[in-house]
Amino acid sequence: MQKIRIKEILAGNTDEKSLSIGGWVKTHRQSKNVSFIELTDGSSIKGLQLVLDPNLESYVSIAEDITTGASIQVSGELQDSPAKGQAFELVVSEITLLGKANPETYPLQKKGHTLEFLREQLHLRPRSNTFGAVFRVRDRAAFALHTFFHERNFAWVHSPIITTSDGEGAGEMFQVTTLDLEKLSKKENISAIDYSQDFFKQPSFLTVTGQLQAEIFATSLTNVYTFGPTFRAENSNTTRHLAEFWMLEPEMAFCDLEGDMGLAEDFVKYILNDLLANCREDLEFFQKFYDEDKKLISTLESVASASFEVITYTEAISILEKSAIAFEFPVSWGIDLQTEHERYLTEVHVGGPVFVIDYPKDIKAFYMRMNDDEKTVAAMDLLVPRCGEIIGGSQREERYDVLQNKIRTMNLDEKEYEWYLDLRKYGTVPHAGFGLGFERLLMYVTGMQNVRDVIPCPRYAGSANF
Ligand code: 4AD
Ligand code: MG
Repeated sequence: MQKIRIKEILAGNTDEKSLSIGGWVKTHRQSKNVSFIELTDGSSIKGLQLVLDPNLESYVSIAEDITTGASIQVSGELQDSPAKGQAFELVVSEITLLGKANPETYPLQKKGHTLEFLREQLHLRPRSNTFGAVFRVRDRAAFALHTFFHERNFAWVHSPIITTSDGEGAGEMFQVTTLDLEKLSKKENISAIDYSQDFFKQPSFLTVTGQLQAEIFATSLTNVYTFGPTFRAENSNTTRHLAEFWMLEPEMAFCDLEGDMGLAEDFVKYILNDLLANCREDLEFFQKFYDEDKKLISTLESVASASFEVITYTEAISILEKSAIAFEFPVSWGIDLQTEHERYLTEVHVGGPVFVIDYPKDIKAFYMRMNDDEKTVAAMDLLVPRCGEIIGGSQREERYDVLQNKIRTMNLDEKEYEWYLDLRKYGTVPHAGFGLGFERLLMYVTGMQNVRDVIPCPRYAGSANF
């Protein structure tokens, strides 16, 4: 196992000067008197500069195979670098070629590739500068997420992946079955599926949210969160939707909508500050190559320090109606806000993150708490520039009768939600929570424009490679 990582070496964190390290070649430059290899092990955007005597015995015979993407192991002495661009370099005394990467066929040559091209090379793209940076930031954000919640005494609850409840009541679920569909398709005269023959003996699905199960634990452990994969069979081919994405869902007992927004704001700021402190070089890379205005870092810094604005849905509609923009989707009270509306509100009207609260009851999920006006629910969405909605949350309906009534009027199967109603029947408490799309957050902090570029293996309609 590689104990020393290039990131640590470049940061000057190694006391030992004699080092042995493995990695992949980024570049190899040869001249008469000296050769240079830039080596990466994926721990940082910068590689380690290796300096070689062209006559070094172990090098001579393999020099021509030291091409971009080849894997090598080297030993040598670390010294201060006389050249600009790096503090240290490794003077190599021994080099071994572990694996060639034929330059005729290796897809990731030095020149920059388009993100579309790299999306077709899912198995190799983490070796590129861009995707190395994306996945380091993703890892750090996940780590910071757990730290944030544990510092605040939240318990991490593992909600199930397979479920029989439609947690959003929106019918966007992938069915899970062991029934032989091929065989069934050949049977004549089948008018209904016999689920007693299926694995779970009832229709079951991949979860669209861990919220309902998180509510079980919030009404017993008080403050909890779930974080894991979530599935939606939304057939929307957009740059913001995945069929499999990761969602963070905190759920708090004895909490109202305001407390919910407070936590969401603290959380987003905490993650931004953590990444600004711990992924600085990667963020600088995104700013340089993916941010036209070159303002990514200063934007994140100012968002991390200012208060988020709050407007009601009703206010949002009147702002949109007063704007001179000809939206593709016409605006009137009662519509579901589309991305173009969300982006206008956050980018043009506010110029930063904004919570929109108190949405019409008819466009939101059954579990949201009815407001006194009986037209709106205690919901909140957090909208941010470039992405639109990154968080959706609400105070939950904790009144048994009101919730039961809602389930009935929305034509949901009451039997399915009996256990959920029980949480209100026995020791009910005001409670609230939210869901944050982890990939949406990553798009926001990295400036990547497509959600498919911030998850290892993107799944969307028509595509599930590997
Ligand atoms: O607004 P949503 O649908 O809310 C819920 O699922 C609630 N149960 C959350 C809760 O209150 N515990 O989804 C929450 C967030 C969205 O704001 C968005 O960021 C993300 O999940 N999201 C998606 N991200 C990528 N691809 C998709 N198809 C997404 N659908 C939702
Ligand atoms: Mg939503």
